[in-house]
Amino acid sequence: MTHPASILVVDDDQRNREMLTEALSHAGFAVEVACDGVEALSKANEATYDAVLSDVRMTPLSGLDLLDFLRKSMPEIPIVLLTAFGSVDTAIQAMKQGAYNYITKPVNLDELVFTMTRAVEYRRLIEDTHMRPRAFRERPRAAALIGQSKKMVEVFKLVGRVSRSRTAVLIQGESGTGKELIARAIHDNSPRAAHRFVAVNCSAIPDSLLESEFFGHIKGSFTGAHLLRRGLLEEASGGTFFLDEVGDLSSAGQAKLLRVLQEGEIRRIGSNEAVQVDVRIIAASRRTLADLVTAGRFREDLLYRLNTVMLLLPPLRERPEDIPVLAEFFLARYGDQKEVPVTSFSTAARRALAEYAWPGNVRELEHVVERAVALASHAILALEDLPPEVLQSTGSAAERAEILPGTLKALQRDQVLKMLESTQGNKERTARLLGISRRTLYRLLDRYGLGKPRLTTNVDVADPTGS
Ligand SMILES: Nc1ncnc2c1ncn2[C@@H]1O[C@H](COP(=O)(O)OP(=O)(O)OP(=O)(O)O)[C@@H](O)[C@H]1O
Ligand SMILES: [Mg+2]
Repeated sequence: MTHPASILVVDDDQRNREMLTEALSHAGFAVEVACDGVEALSKANEATYDAVLSDVRMTPLSGLDLLDFLRKSMPEIPIVLLTAFGSVDTAIQAMKQGAYNYITKPVNLDELVFTMTRAVEYRRLIEDTHMRPRAFRERPRAAALIGQSKKMVEVFKLVGRVSRSRTAVLIQGESGTGKELIARAIHDNSPRAAHRFVAVNCSAIPDSLLESEFFGHIKGSFTGAHLLRRGLLEEASGGTFFLDEVGDLSSAGQAKLLRVLQEGEIRRIGSNEAVQVDVRIIAASRRTLADLVTAGRFREDLLYRLNTVMLLLPPLRERPEDIPVLAEFFLARYGDQKEVPVTSFSTAARRALAEYAWPGNVRELEHVVERAVALASHAILALEDLPPEVLQSTGSAAERAEILPGTLKALQRDQVLKMLESTQGNKERTARLLGISRRTLYRLLDRYGLGKPRLTTNVDVADPTGS
């Protein structure tokens, strides 16, 4: 390189501009600055830059607007966006609109220099090959995807990237990490969004029904087939076919699916006519499919077809930064539904949520908040509104003392009663919110002397549960 690569830094905050300029100059880049999007556009028209680094939150032109303009007028310039708001929508939107990358504040300077170096290399690469990446212009639908941890921001970026194409995506992650939500986000952000997102839970379809579910059947093809029925794959045509728990597909099911993926067409049961289906396949599994392949329980050739892009959703305990934002999000969702809206968490409750390991991941967190809201008698969610398993993991003995004037059992009784009250005595819902079976609920009610009135007196009867 004879001359240093040039970068245009766009930020409306002077201190940021200085900080970024210093870091990049120090790394050997020639840096120009612009105080807003308008100035950036005029500078970009006057000179050629190897890359642009822009803040997102600016007026009157936001970083995304700037991205839009630049992608149209000079698509060869890689643009890296920078934002303090770990907003998912922005991350997805930025990548979809063709940003080269996306960095969150506070800026890690090594990461910044690394990203800008790569951006400049990319610029030279496309100049060499005359490749012109196309801008993708559709607006995304609002997806309620929350997360600001580095790991999730990476996931969101990937969602934005893969949504443009019809590449098969395999989403793996523990139970409750948001696999289905991510699959929907990919669909909603894709050009297929106007078509259907058909989700099939592979563990729920028995082998005997798989064929007619997937492929449909024609009238009279078997006893009970009174009408022509289109299969799920046909229903999804033009859209997305989501295979949930694909690892649970039987070997016969795997073979049938593989054939569809290879041939791109199906035959309804009872018919010889091939029907073209244009579906995008997204599969999810809570178990690692590669392990199932090793164990001889999943076809390697099918795995190969499914995981063109693999997206691994990290468990919640590996991204603790997301806990408070998710908790707030669910509180807003459920807190409003109460007569006296529940609006915030007590400090101790917040801390307990942050310290718990969340084996059930986001789904468990959502459940805990929903349940706590149902229990809460004040506008502020207190420690005592949280379930015992979350409480048990709170760090300090002092905090535990605060919540345990009696024993955990007393607490449990209290929670069951409050929950019953808040559901107006709906036992089904109470049991669900408490995360117990209806039978267990009845047993507890019995234990508290709140079961159905009995015909015989039970004063002498020993507690069958032994408490
Ligand atoms: N990042 C997120 N932002 C907001 N809500 C989320 C997020 N991740 C998960 N959720 C919510 O958590 C719940 C569980 O998510 P989802 O059903 O997508 O998980 P899953 O990985 O498919 O779980 P399972 O393996 O149990 O099927 C849903 O209600 C979903 O809306
Ligand atoms: Mg799921």
